[in-house]
Amino acid sequence: MDTWIEDRPRAQQPTLVGVVGAGYVGLTSAAGLAALGHRVRVIEADPDRLAMLERGELPIVEPGLAELIDELRRAGRLDFTSAMSAVGGASVVLLCVGTPPRSDGDPDLRQLASAARDVASHATADLVVVVKSTVPPGTCDAIELICHGSAREDIAVRVASNPEFLRESRALWDFMHPDRVVVGAAERRVATLIRDLYPAEWPVLLTDRRSAELIKYAANTFLAIKISYANEIAALCEHLGADAGDVLEGTGLDPRVGPQFLKPGPGFGGSCLGKDLSGMIAVANRVGLEAQLPRAAQSVNGWARMRVVEKLEGVIGDLEGKHVAILGLAFKPGTDDIRDSPALDVIAIITERGARVTATDPLAAAVDASIERFDDPYDAVRGADAVAILTACPEFSGLDPHRLRSEMHGTAVIDAVGVIDVDAFEACGLDVAGIDRGTPCAFHPVILSPLRWTLSG
Ligand code: UGA
Repeated sequence: MDTWIEDRPRAQQPTLVGVVGAGYVGLTSAAGLAALGHRVRVIEADPDRLAMLERGELPIVEPGLAELIDELRRAGRLDFTSAMSAVGGASVVLLCVGTPPRSDGDPDLRQLASAARDVASHATADLVVVVKSTVPPGTCDAIELICHGSAREDIAVRVASNPEFLRESRALWDFMHPDRVVVGAAERRVATLIRDLYPAEWPVLLTDRRSAELIKYAANTFLAIKISYANEIAALCEHLGADAGDVLEGTGLDPRVGPQFLKPGPGFGGSCLGKDLSGMIAVANRVGLEAQLPRAAQSVNGWARMRVVEKLEGVIGDLEGKHVAILGLAFKPGTDDIRDSPALDVIAIITERGARVTATDPLAAAVDASIERFDDPYDAVRGADAVAILTACPEFSGLDPHRLRSEMHGTAVIDAVGVIDVDAFEACGLDVAGIDRGTPCAFHPVILSPLRWTLSG
């Protein structure tokens, strides 16, 4: 038996747990719970995904997860199946299916409802169904009604909320080191059952179901607002000849603000922040509220992406017939996920404006067939009029500016994520434009207004 598993923190009450859905949340929760000492059965409906998992391959890129799953399977703690009857002996079943946004921004809860119906109809004893997916407040109440309609009459199915706060590319670490475990339940007995799935020393917040559901939306919406605020400050710094790196560091040193999620860039992306922002707005609208701050973050995020296009046009002019090399397709480093990635929007706009696009990314595949994707960044930049760095991959910080300069046709480099050494690049004759720093010259026009204000009144 491998000691790595044994060294993990221990659950208070080893339990047979069913997990429906083998995506980011499902696989990480399943592996995490099995590592804590539970026996976990993952139910995945997609036959291709299931076949991959059975071969020991993962449908997602997540550091450490494949190795841990392999170890847990060999230890007999974790298995995969397509048979919903596997929930029969479980006392807890986690629903980890997708809740994507509809085209109008409202969340689509059909997968969740169908999974709940399936689980309830296969229950052979009283069961607690836990909603792990991010859902609008009120969903657990609705799912409980659905379960009542599908379960045998002699079986009680209770539904609780236990939202997951993991970040892609750090999912396992986040699961094992939670800032908080949020449990929303209508009955203390149910809350205790879920709390006992986790080690006693983990910080647990027990609350009602709607509050638990809203905590996840509120946390992601706050992060989206915070990043958008950083992007507006960065733009202001650029106009004022100030340095956003220093300004935001100085702002974040106030513990009431905090340093995280104050890094400017081409806007946030991924499958969560944008989706939950739309979900939050839809929920607020339904009860007659405007959600002004979340709406503002949504609009700032669109503007932050557009700013990269404006920068490009600022340095190479009309994009028609120009060759632009995009470095970074994924929404953040360490993942191959391109869902709602800023690069997608930037590529769509500049292609529409007539640019030819080549691209590279350490992990992500091409956005679509019209984009030429290269594994090697130097192949991607060959002959380019401009290079735009859109994902903060460490691979891009290590690029050799001499080689880049010699491969490119033009000299423009837009670093939207602040990963390169600007001085070294400029020393090689490259013209670097960031999104966070203006020219700190003494006679900057910005001093005119304060000068005037010293004279008037
Ligand atoms: C996010 C949250 O961070 C998790 O807590 C949450 O559990 C998860 O959504 C979810 O709902 O499941 P994730 O989408 O994996 O996690 O990615 P983040 O690391 O939060 O990054 C989101 C985006 O914000 C990326 O595009 C990133 O580049 C951008 N970002 C992040 C910034 O532009 N600036 C920052 O300072 C931080």
